[in-house]
Amino acid sequence: MTEQTPVTETNAKVITLPDAQTVTQVQHWTDRLFSFRVTRPASLRFRSGEFVMIGLMGENGKPLLRAYSIASPAWDDELEFYSIKVPDGPLTSKLQHIKEGNQIILRPKPVGTLVLDALLPGKRLWLFATGTGFAPFASLLRDPDTYARYDEIIMMHTCRDVAELNYSRDLIDSIRKDEMLAELMGDGFADKLKYYPTTTQEKSPNMGRITDNLSSGKVFADLGIDGINPETDRGMVCGSLAFNTDMKAALESFGLEEGANSDPKQYVVEKAFVG
Ligand code: A2P
Repeated sequence: MTEQTPVTETNAKVITLPDAQTVTQVQHWTDRLFSFRVTRPASLRFRSGEFVMIGLMGENGKPLLRAYSIASPAWDDELEFYSIKVPDGPLTSKLQHIKEGNQIILRPKPVGTLVLDALLPGKRLWLFATGTGFAPFASLLRDPDTYARYDEIIMMHTCRDVAELNYSRDLIDSIRKDEMLAELMGDGFADKLKYYPTTTQEKSPNMGRITDNLSSGKVFADLGIDGINPETDRGMVCGSLAFNTDMKAALESFGLEEGANSDPKQYVVEKAFVG
């Protein structure tokens, strides 16, 4: 690939090299969270749940890139990302100011373990996310293949505050009304999807950490499920390092084993982008 031209304010409009993509939409959800959409390189093929490196040109003329899960599904014409805003974060302190028409750098090399092929076939898929760890699941939940492979999909998403759940709540609402999915999967597809949002630092109808709601059995009682069974249940985990570590222990206590692309098993884990 040719060396890319720096994307700076003065030359941003004339960049046409493959690694520059144009911002098509930006939405701010809270003062800590935003999502944005960019053009998709014609050559980019990815599996729902994978991540790519994206970023901006740093002041030193070198690209400042971070791993970001693609939040849009593999069939979408554009790419969507869901990001935290860290006031002194090298990338997100700048990225949070992007506007429609601006350009970002996107390396078109998707990778990741949160893909359907990294799991053995099963009946029920559990998706466990904290904060922006929801992003890869925003992709998988819009992919018809997810509904084709599982009878039931349970999305547990936990944030500190109610407002931080808005992105996932809106997305789940729109998926339930999605005509394309209904046409492909049949009208009943929406019944397969169970959304279990909780908060930990602000009062809401459902509270508590995911790990606590699993170990106490509260989520099973609320959803009328016996528990997590390694024969039928599969899991995907995406959150902070501490969350991932605790979730691995929780899932292994139910008898699930960690898989990978090259060795599919009962659950997979990936760290959410943080800085
Ligand atoms: P809590 O408020 O009890 O720490 P953060 O914004 O710090 O990444 O956290 C996002 C959410 O993940 C919060 O609701 C937080 O709960 C929860 N969380 C953080 N660490 C863990 C963990 N080790 N296990 C389960 N949930 C966690």
